Amino acid sequence: MSRRADFPWPHSFIPINPQSVLKGVENFERFLDKSQLEQRNFKWRELPYYDGRGGRPLYVVSDGAVYDVTEFVNFHAGGDHHLRNNAGKDVTRLMRAAGMPDYVFTDVLKRFKVGKIASEDKPTS
Ligand code: HEM
Repeated sequence: MSRRADFPWPHSFIPINPQSVLKGVENFERFLDKSQLEQRNFKWRELPYYDGRGGRPLYVVSDGAVYDVTEFVNFHAGGDHHLRNNAGKDVTRLMRAAGMPDYVFTDVLKRFKVGKIASEDKPTS
C-alpha cells in the first residue's frame, strides 16, 4: 500500500516537488546503497541500453565509475533533465562544471555506484 493511502488527510494531497526536499547527506539513506551490492565491469557499448526509458535503468558514468540513478533522478536538485539527457553517457566534465558541493562527490555519489568501465575499454563517441 502506498504511503499516500495511509494518510488520507488534506495536507497529504499538497503536491511536493521532490527536488526541493532532498538536501544533505543524511537524506540519501533512503536510497539503497548500491556500492554494497556486487559490482560489475561495463563496456561503453553496453551503456546506451541504460537510458531510463521503457522501464530500463538510468546509468551515468563519471571518472570511469558507473552510477545507477534510476531512483534518484526525480530528486536531483539540479533537475532531472541533467541526468535524463545524459543517460548512458560520460558526465565527468558536466559534473565538475555544475558547481555541485563537495559532499556530492565525497559522500553521495558512491551510494549509486554499480560498477566501472573496464579499464581497457575506450569511449565509442
Ligand atoms: C550521479 C550523478 C549525480 C548526483 C548523485 C548528483 C547529486 C546532486 C545533489 C545532491 C545536488 C544538491 C546539492 C546541494 O545543493 O546540496 C545536486 C545539484 C546539482 N547538480 Fe547534480 N548530481 C549528479 C549529476 C549531475 C550532472 C550530470 C549534472 C550536469 C550538469 C548536475 C548538475 C547539478 C546542478 C546544476 C545542481 C545545482 C547546483 C546548485 O544549485 O548549487 N548533476 N546534484
